[in-house]
Amino acid sequence: MITIVVGTNRNDATSEIIAQHYYNILQSKQVDSEIVYLKDLPQDFVVSALYENEGKNPVFNAIREKVLNAEKIIFIVPEYNGSFPGVLKAFIDGMPYPNAFMDKKIALVGLSAGIQGGALALSHLSDIFSYLNAHVLGYKVKLIQIEKNMQNEQITNKFYLQLIDNQIEKFISF
Ligand SMILES: Cc1cc2nc3c(=O)[nH]c(=O)nc-3n(C[C@H](O)[C@H](O)[C@H](O)COP(=O)(O)O)c2cc1C
Repeated sequence: MITIVVGTNRNDATSEIIAQHYYNILQSKQVDSEIVYLKDLPQDFVVSALYENEGKNPVFNAIREKVLNAEKIIFIVPEYNGSFPGVLKAFIDGMPYPNAFMDKKIALVGLSAGIQGGALALSHLSDIFSYLNAHVLGYKVKLIQIEKNMQNEQITNKFYLQLIDNQIEKFISF
């Protein structure tokens, strides 16, 4: 089972379409996966589920459990202000510290409107996951100018499709 996390809570996010693409490819390779949407987090989770309120918000707990129980996780990460979305950091901060990501295997996918493809965002996240003793797959996908390379909710760029397939193959055997 591979857990795919949509790294933003923005409505109608392109990241959701990319997550669904990963889900479909995994399914075509007979690998079970599920998508976790950060938009399903309770809107007040930063006050109702963190720190002294840890464990007190059942909706947050249910989403957190899915990530805690995952052995392999793919994070779909849109570039926001040169890094990854704040809601993703808040979610990570709501996981039990320090062992939540210990020995988990993680693949990272960046996407952006601009020409970085979330390169810095993935670098920032890699630092965090390495600090937390997770294992981050070296093969990271960076989908630059993603909106220009999509049509009707499908990725049109064949090179991107190949990169994604290569990453999934490597992640399955990681
Ligand atoms: C708050 C916010 C900040 C963003 N910052 C950047 C940025 O720094 N660089 C960039 O190339 N695109 C930026 N974008 C555009 C997104 O990276 C781009 O639309 C991405 O492909 C998909 O994001 P989504 O999953 O929220 O739709 C930003 C978008 C939002 C909503």
